[in-house]
Amino acid sequence: MSKKIIAGNWKQNGTLKSSVRLTKKILEALKKNKCRHEIIIIPPAIFLLPIKDLIYKSKIKLGAQNVSAFNNGAYTGEISGTMLKDSKVEYCLVGHSERRHIINEDEYILSSKVSQLIDNDITIIYCFGETLSEYKNKKTKLILKNQLKKLFLSNKNNLKKKPSKLVLAYEPVWAIGTGLVPSPEELASIFKFIRNTVNKMNKNYSSIKILYGGSVSEDNAPSLIDTEYIDGLLIGGASLIAKKFIDICSTI
Ligand code: 13P
Repeated sequence: MSKKIIAGNWKQNGTLKSSVRLTKKILEALKKNKCRHEIIIIPPAIFLLPIKDLIYKSKIKLGAQNVSAFNNGAYTGEISGTMLKDSKVEYCLVGHSERRHIINEDEYILSSKVSQLIDNDITIIYCFGETLSEYKNKKTKLILKNQLKKLFLSNKNNLKKKPSKLVLAYEPVWAIGTGLVPSPEELASIFKFIRNTVNKMNKNYSSIKILYGGSVSEDNAPSLIDTEYIDGLLIGGASLIAKKFIDICSTI
């Protein structure tokens, strides 16, 4: 199996103590069993620096959950791409459904965030996916195509400058935190569609990796990762429990 990406999005969970404990357990496990895959942990912003100090000698990469749409200046409460770069953060999520739907981030904001990250050489993990009603109304492919078009064909972001700084993460909104996962047939068809759509937009994007996220568990991870065109997993709930996350990393 080729090298995959396994990313753990911790969302707004944990304490400093529990985050350090979780990180140490992952580090210990990785020392014992060789995991060939690229592991990224994505803690809450306030824990990024202490966790960076724990993992800096390991192969684990650090990701942020969010970035400001603006560069440094009078934007109270925000954290800029420059600051993330300065803190040795290598990845950052953009477009997660919780930020699109709960924080109401629109395409304009997402484009600005993409630009800030490209300017700071941080790899974007760009999340997209359909809602339950769109899925029920069989609009999945239409919605995904529109979301990808907005990302790739936008003149507002500067992605074209560095296409290699992008990873896509398909996360059906209805699969996040629900225990529901698309059927193997649905996933195979959707990932083929995403890959073809991306390739048609621009050949420079043909090597972009595409992750799956939404109710990934230690039980379903092996079959998910076997799906053609799935280059890795973006894991929420299961990434907060050391044993589950380690099992996923070591069994695929
Ligand atoms: P769950 O794995 O908890 O469904 O969350 C998925 C997710 O949103 C990862 O970004």
